[in-house]
Amino acid sequence: MESIASAPGKTILFGEHAVVYGEPAIAGAVNRRATVKIKKTNNDLSILKSKDLGFEAELDTKKKTYILKKGKPGIIRYILESLSKVHNHSPIEIDLSLDIPIGSGLGSSAAVTVATLAALYQYHGKKFNKKFLAKQAHQVELKVQGIASPLDTSISTFGGLVYLSRDKRIIKFKNLLNSSFVIGYTMKYGNTGKMVKSVKALKNKYPKILNPIIKTIGEITDEAKLAIVHNDKNRLAELMNLNQGLLDSIGVNTNELSRMIYISRKYGAIGSKLTGAGGGGSIIAFCPGKENQVFRILSKYDNAIKVNFSREGVLYRTNK
Ligand code: PMV
Repeated sequence: MESIASAPGKTILFGEHAVVYGEPAIAGAVNRRATVKIKKTNNDLSILKSKDLGFEAELDTKKKTYILKKGKPGIIRYILESLSKVHNHSPIEIDLSLDIPIGSGLGSSAAVTVATLAALYQYHGKKFNKKFLAKQAHQVELKVQGIASPLDTSISTFGGLVYLSRDKRIIKFKNLLNSSFVIGYTMKYGNTGKMVKSVKALKNKYPKILNPIIKTIGEITDEAKLAIVHNDKNRLAELMNLNQGLLDSIGVNTNELSRMIYISRKYGAIGSKLTGAGGGGSIIAFCPGKENQVFRILSKYDNAIKVNFSREGVLYRTNK
C-alpha cells in the first residue's frame, strides 16, 4: 500500500506586512506542488528521499534525528516534526517531489508540511478534515520556525486565490485572473521574522508616519479585491506598483528586488512588486501576454518561474 498526498505553494499578491497589523491581504495557491509518497519499508530505520532536492536521509523518528546521506537538510525538520504528530515510528519510506523552489517565498515548507501530514493520516487510516490539517500544519511550522502566520498552511490546504479580511475570514475569489505571473527570486533568502521586527521597530519610531502607510496598504488591498472581482487587469497592475512603493518606504525592499522589479517592468510587466517578507526572497510580476519575455529576462540574471493561481488545495489518496 502506498499513500500519496500533494499540496500547493502560495504567493502573496497584496498586503504583506500590513496584514501583521490587522489589515487585509490577498494571496493564492499556485500550480506548483509538493508531493509526498509513503510506503512501508523492511529496513530498520525510516528513509526520506527526494530526487528533486537531491537528498536522502535516514530518520530516527523517535529521537527526531537524522543521518544525512546526501544533500542539504533544510526541509527535513518539517518532515520530522510532522512525523512526531502522527506516526507510530514503524519504518517507512518517504519520497518527496517538489516543483516549488525552496526559499523563493512560495511557501515550500508549508506545502511539504501539509502534504506530509495528509499522506501520514492517510497511511494510518486516520480520519481528518482540512480545517484540522491546516491547524496541525501551522503548529508544525511554529515549532520549526518559532514564528509563522497561518496564511501559508491554510492556503496550501484549501487552495484558491483568497482575500484575508480584517476579521481574519478567508474569502475565496471566483475569478483566478486567468493569467500567468512571473516570480523572480534571488538565492538570498529573506528572513520573515527579522523583516517583521524591522517594520515594527520603524513603526514604533515613527508611528504617525507608519500607521497611515500600513492603513493605505490595506486600502490598496481592498481596491485590488474589486479589481480582481471585475477582472480589471490594468487597475490590478497599478495597485501592485502602488503597494511596491509603500513596501519600499517601510524598508523591506532590497537592491536585488528593485532591480528585478524595474527589469520586469521594462520588459513588459504592467505591475510588479516584491512578494512576501522582502529583505531578499522574491518579486511577482504581472505581465499579461508578455510572460515569456519577462520570464526569460529574469532567468538571465537571477531565477524565475511562471505560476498560475490554482483552486486546488491538498489532494490525497491511497494506492492499494
Ligand atoms: O515571505 P513569506 O511568504 O513568509 O511572507 C511573510 C508575510 C508577512 O506579512 C511579512 C508576515 C506574515 O506573517 O504575514
